[in-house]
Amino acid sequence: MFLQEIQNELICADSLGDLIQMEVHSKPFLSPGNNWFCSKISVLTPEGDTHLFPCYRWVDYGSSLVLSPAPAKFLFQETNPIVQKQRKRALEESQGNFGWRVYVEGLPQTVDADKAKDLPEEVRFSFSKAMDFDRLLEKELAFLNTQHLAKNTEQWKSYSELDQVLCEKRSLTYEYVRKHWDEDELFGYQFLNGINPMMIQRCSKLPENFPVTEEMVKDSLKGSTLEQEMQNGHIFLCDYKILDGLMGNVHVRQQYLTAPLVLLYNNPEGLMLPIAIQLMQKPGTENPIFLPADLEHDWLLAKIFVRSAEFALHEVDFHLLRTHLLAEVFTMATLRNLPSMHPLFKLLFPHIRYTLQINIMARNMLLSKEIGYFINFAAVGGDSLPKLMRRATASLTYSSLCLPDNISERGLEEVPHYYYRDDGTKLWNIIDKFVEGVLTHFYKSDINVQRDTELQQWIREIFTNGFLGSDSTGIPQSFNTMKYLIKFVTMVIFTASVQHASVNAGQFDFGGWMPNFPSGLRKPHPKQKGQTNEDTILETLPDVGMTVNTMAILKVLSTKSTDHYPLGYFREELFEEEVPCKLMKKFQEDLKSLSGLIKERNATLELPYTFLDPENVDNSVAL
Ligand code: FE2
Repeated sequence: MFLQEIQNELICADSLGDLIQMEVHSKPFLSPGNNWFCSKISVLTPEGDTHLFPCYRWVDYGSSLVLSPAPAKFLFQETNPIVQKQRKRALEESQGNFGWRVYVEGLPQTVDADKAKDLPEEVRFSFSKAMDFDRLLEKELAFLNTQHLAKNTEQWKSYSELDQVLCEKRSLTYEYVRKHWDEDELFGYQFLNGINPMMIQRCSKLPENFPVTEEMVKDSLKGSTLEQEMQNGHIFLCDYKILDGLMGNVHVRQQYLTAPLVLLYNNPEGLMLPIAIQLMQKPGTENPIFLPADLEHDWLLAKIFVRSAEFALHEVDFHLLRTHLLAEVFTMATLRNLPSMHPLFKLLFPHIRYTLQINIMARNMLLSKEIGYFINFAAVGGDSLPKLMRRATASLTYSSLCLPDNISERGLEEVPHYYYRDDGTKLWNIIDKFVEGVLTHFYKSDINVQRDTELQQWIREIFTNGFLGSDSTGIPQSFNTMKYLIKFVTMVIFTASVQHASVNAGQFDFGGWMPNFPSGLRKPHPKQKGQTNEDTILETLPDVGMTVNTMAILKVLSTKSTDHYPLGYFREELFEEEVPCKLMKKFQEDLKSLSGLIKERNATLELPYTFLDPENVDNSVAL
């Protein structure tokens, strides 16, 4: 066969017969290192048919790749022994490239790589993303170093001194938080629409270790009773018991952690307001229940301790574990078990971009026992970090990862102004409809789900390596029906995109103003009322070094690079069949129309909830 290269096209005069696969060779060009990124190859046969061969991989210097035609195929549909063999070989190669590693016993397993450079090039950051990330990091580090702030262990002298540290343009939300951080309304609002909307649950019975009396809350309930309001479904609880017994970090400076209980009242005006706070789990005379009617600084300091517990739980459990580490599990299982022609590989491909690299960087920059952010600047650093991660992993359930189930388990169906729930549920339904359309088109029947051995191995690895083989998680170990498969895949895409956006995007907006999101506190929790003033609070809050390092990290973690892709954007042309292509278009239209509705709603809000506007939701955990 004679092939001639003309402007990236290869022309062939001979009939090609059945195209079952294509082999691409990279000839040495000038010098090693001149690798070639091959997006796709389109073949127009002399008979006038076009065949697409997606690639989207780097062809190494002097090596070759085998490509498959774009039409998706299951293994059981494959009759050609050459292709069957190649399919098996491709998976073996992938399993060699992406091995599992026990990062910490009791946590989801990770990719077996120490540095991003150890990963195959196609799963690493693009040149522009790497440049953006490095530039931002350098800018933040330069700022810390030139101002001699990074290692400063002095306390802030005043809030206005703290306010002067941020010279750049501030977002509307940052300014709103700075102005209102000490108000009950914003404190309660953040449990619904802040960066961790996952803690709050309806309370129909007080926990036994939280002895709030009717007398304590009668002023807050304005004539009603706690019993009555619990029956009416207006009382809510945030219980940080998972932090109970964890010691604050002692590296560099002594820090303190609490495990608070917060009682909230959803009042007739629809506001979610805190009505009682107990900072430790065990009730007692040295663990008073703080109330809004207490002296201003007593109440404010109690709320600050809650916000600091929130920092630990948000970053470690709801952000790191439940989005980053789970997305890594889904990425690994996909790369290791689904060949590129598998329909589920094609469906999930946009949702695994950059996840392995960002997680390796997080392990090196944030979690490292020696130089990581947590050990140096957060109360949950040190010995408590792996303990909390293990506890959080042990508490993982499948239902908590599925938004509709999670909302009903927490009893939050009726609470007003819960924009995370409203936008998230619409997004869940849009993703579910898209996934259902694509998977139903390919599988057609439950029998085909059962006989898809690659799919069954995919879920087995997720269960075993990700959820540590724990039956109590409720994670499926195999799939028997399309219905269960569709729900699981919806959860995978939702977790990597929507859920991550909800806990990631606002980190600087809500956490940049340190008193609203202190990474650790430097004094123990108050054991008596009436002994706190503004100086006590400034002594308790993070010092200068903790503050500015946390600000820099939150800034880096919530600033998108130019190379990011919103949900519904399909950069790679992986499907060529008419049905999935039409479904992709409809998916994009649904997302666009939801974006319009969210913008309309936000225009009426003093503090717009923008995190789940589809335009702001990235396809994957990449930040
Ligand atoms: Fe993130």
